[in-house]
Amino acid sequence: MHCVKKITDDLVWVGANDRRLAMFEGVYSVPDGVSYNSYLLTDEKTVLFDTVDKAVRERFLENVAFALDGRPLDYLIVQHMEPDHSAVIEELLDRYPGMKLVCNAKTQAFIKQFFDMDVDAHIVKENDTLNTGRHTLQFVMTPMVHWPEVMVTYDSTDKILFSADAFGCFGALNGAIFADEVDFDKDYMDEARRYYTNIVGKYGAQVQSLLGKASVLSIGMICPLHGFVWRKGLSGIISKYALWSSYQPEENGVMIAYASVYGHTENVAEILACRLCDKGVKTVMFDVSVTPSSGIISAAFRWSHLVFASTTYNAGIFVSMEEVLSDLVAHNIQNRTVALIENGSWAPASGGLMRGKLEKCKNIRILAETVSIKSSLKTSQLSELDAMAQAIAAELMPQKPDAAPEKKDAGVIDSAVMFKLTYGLFVLTAKDGGDDYGCIINTATQITASPLRISIAVNKANATHGVIQKTGAFNLSVLTESVPFEVFEQFGFHSGKGKFAGCSYDDRADNGIRYVPEHTNGVICGTVAEAYDYGTHTIFVADVTQAFALSAEPSVTYQYYFDNIKPKAPKQKKKGFICKICGYIYEGDALPPDFICPICKHGAEDFEPL
Ligand code: FEO
Repeated sequence: MHCVKKITDDLVWVGANDRRLAMFEGVYSVPDGVSYNSYLLTDEKTVLFDTVDKAVRERFLENVAFALDGRPLDYLIVQHMEPDHSAVIEELLDRYPGMKLVCNAKTQAFIKQFFDMDVDAHIVKENDTLNTGRHTLQFVMTPMVHWPEVMVTYDSTDKILFSADAFGCFGALNGAIFADEVDFDKDYMDEARRYYTNIVGKYGAQVQSLLGKASVLSIGMICPLHGFVWRKGLSGIISKYALWSSYQPEENGVMIAYASVYGHTENVAEILACRLCDKGVKTVMFDVSVTPSSGIISAAFRWSHLVFASTTYNAGIFVSMEEVLSDLVAHNIQNRTVALIENGSWAPASGGLMRGKLEKCKNIRILAETVSIKSSLKTSQLSELDAMAQAIAAELMPQKPDAAPEKKDAGVIDSAVMFKLTYGLFVLTAKDGGDDYGCIINTATQITASPLRISIAVNKANATHGVIQKTGAFNLSVLTESVPFEVFEQFGFHSGKGKFAGCSYDDRADNGIRYVPEHTNGVICGTVAEAYDYGTHTIFVADVTQAFALSAEPSVTYQYYFDNIKPKAPKQKKKGFICKICGYIYEGDALPPDFICPICKHGAEDFEPL
């Protein structure tokens, strides 16, 4: 018997659930099953979006026949050729001989590989459209989210994004089809994260590209190939994808993953967890021999700090830990702080080997000190665990001020407090005849939504200021965290026109004024409505005439610029002595003759001046 769900007046879910599948793709456990989503659009033409896995073909075929209600099937859009979505293509062609396949060229090649048949498909390219009556479908190529042939489809009539694997989730659908019908954050977010990180976690750049393309579409609903349909709270799941695909942690805290044969390594991991919790640090723990690798990958994407503790096994890393680490490296984990613990009764080696694996990852900072135990932890080594906990906690917990801040007298103005305000950074551009102008500003604010108005404060010393005063028009390009210092040199530190000399781009908004398409996430075009003279600066209040997104990257803040982009002044050379054996530095004018290196225990004779 058919089992379908209505999505809109002319869109029906005709997919099916599988709760008997143990291992999705043969590698990911799915204790709550999985859904294979397919959607039928009943416009003047009938359109099916993808098929399902062969395990549920019977229910799917019943559903399609019921939803068609005797009508022919005109189109099958194949967005993804992985067999969990394409297994029934050949059978559909047999049942509905008038059906036309719609796919891209890569998909057509894959169809021949999987089915050994030639199909006369309607081949589509980026932004091609298909009109089916009331609906217009636009095709957007999203290679490697999750295979190279993947594309998504945008129904510009009903503002629906058919998102292929993106925005999917493990778990069968238990009656509800919309994410807002369940407590998604509480009951499903962990599985959505495990799905994302394991299925497309490796392809962060490609997911960012998809998010960039999606950001210029007006999307009211997302229909993925697994899990729930999103019709409310889309920004929540989209912002999770923006975070996950940038490899930034979701939460500050520590994930400890350990491999322990007889419990001694586990004991060290647990003591460390207790020390961390005592310092107020959130901590989660996994035994890598029990928790599947996919769960640990997911947790590693969630938490900011990772601790790996492994016994040495066959002179290497313990087998299940080796699998987890290889998987993490393969999934491109980045931007984390890592601490290592090793155990080895006669030749501890796992610490160095784990370090060697993780060093291949981008922006992974591994604490220098590995805690190394032989068989079991001794009291004398508790201080090493304390030091590890302290080093991690120091990064995660806000530092308490040494003393209560001094109370200021009434009327005192500390101008440094102005830096505590939150600012962004923008390239402000204008045009005077054939000349383009630009400068950096940090003061742009939305004033009202209706009418949509913004204000900018511009220093009169900038040539761009004079041009805006004269022409009354400007563009604001919102800079992102990836912006290199050179952009500030280009636009911020030179005066006059010619800021774009040598630029490889010449992108202009509808007002003919240039904008900056690189390291920016959006452009706002303004026409000046009012101007206020404030001595050194003019505040321009402007109506927004155009605004468009360029990427999903986070906007850069003034603080981020100072902390991460602006080059630091060279540090004063320290006075002191360095241990020639281990590199320990003793700071001071004179090294005591009886000094012993606290790291390698060598004496003063093995030190030399810095
Ligand atoms: Fe659900 Fe990449 O297939």
